[in-house]
Amino acid sequence: MIFLKDLGLRGASLVAVYCAGQSLTACSQNEAITPAPLGSPFTVDMNTSANAALLKQGGYIVQNNVVIANTSKGYVAVTVVCSHEGQRKVTLRSDEFYCPQHGARYDLSGKGLNSEGRNGVMVYSVTQSGNVLTVS
Ligand code: FES
Repeated sequence: MIFLKDLGLRGASLVAVYCAGQSLTACSQNEAITPAPLGSPFTVDMNTSANAALLKQGGYIVQNNVVIANTSKGYVAVTVVCSHEGQRKVTLRSDEFYCPQHGARYDLSGKGLNSEGRNGVMVYSVTQSGNVLTVS
């Protein structure tokens, strides 16, 4: 019987061998999760009570699997899908995006701020016309 260590494989090499034989889900901690692209642009009317949270800095809503947030850098939209393990839990917290599942953190440009967030989060374009935002 030949053991993997006899082939000189250890640590990361063994993980790579293991992951090669598994589904994406089994090894998702090592690979970026890429959400489906935004189907088509959509608008958010901040005059409606459902979207009123966006009128204050620090407020956010989730619509069409997109977190739309009023941040210190203006309106920013990112996917709710966390790149760590694909949980749909990304929210705004303390002027950065955050996934409570394992603590992934992303800055307002989508860049990861810790190891769980290292693959970044997808950012969408937001334009404003009066109290209407268009996410694309
Ligand atoms: S799924 Fe692990 S931090 Fe979001």
